[in-house]
Amino acid sequence: MSRWPNAFFMMAAFYIIIGTCWGLYMSVTHDFATSPAHAHLNLLGFVSLSIMGAFYATLGKGTPTWLVKTNFFLNSIGVAIMITGLGLLFTQTVPPEKLAPLMMISEPMIILGFLSFFAAAVMSFRRGPGSSTAA
Ligand code: HEM
Repeated sequence: MSRWPNAFFMMAAFYIIIGTCWGLYMSVTHDFATSPAHAHLNLLGFVSLSIMGAFYATLGKGTPTWLVKTNFFLNSIGVAIMITGLGLLFTQTVPPEKLAPLMMISEPMIILGFLSFFAAAVMSFRRGPGSSTAA
């Protein structure tokens, strides 16, 4: 069986550790300025990667490995770049115009990642129930 689902869950667990520590820090300091970045890290980094990992471990087992890898790298690296940009934006440590390149790279990466997931879901639909084979 492919280890790519494990890779999705490994990154999801990594991001939720950072995300929850970030939430704890906001609670303790009463500084909620970065809460949208915290929310996006948890939702894109933990929830989305976990759902995609679960898909590839089950219905998406027959997805070509290149597509699973594309999905994994686009989403897991895209979120790290985007959250860095959002964090710096909301803490006002870097002027927004200097952060534009980070957002212009990461946002399309994440959208393309979800497009590759959509393609994998369509392939799985076309294969039909019970026809999954290991990627
Ligand atoms: C130990 C775990 C967590 C802690 C301590 C924590 C803490 C916080 C805090 C302090 C805020 C800001 C509230 C405010 O602005 O008044 C917040 C916002 C938020 N958190 Fe968390 N959080 C945790 C886990 C999570 C998880 C697991 C998710 C999603 C999967 C999540 C999603 C959100 C969302 C959607 C917001 C609202 C963001 C916004 O309105 O801009 N949080 N959290």
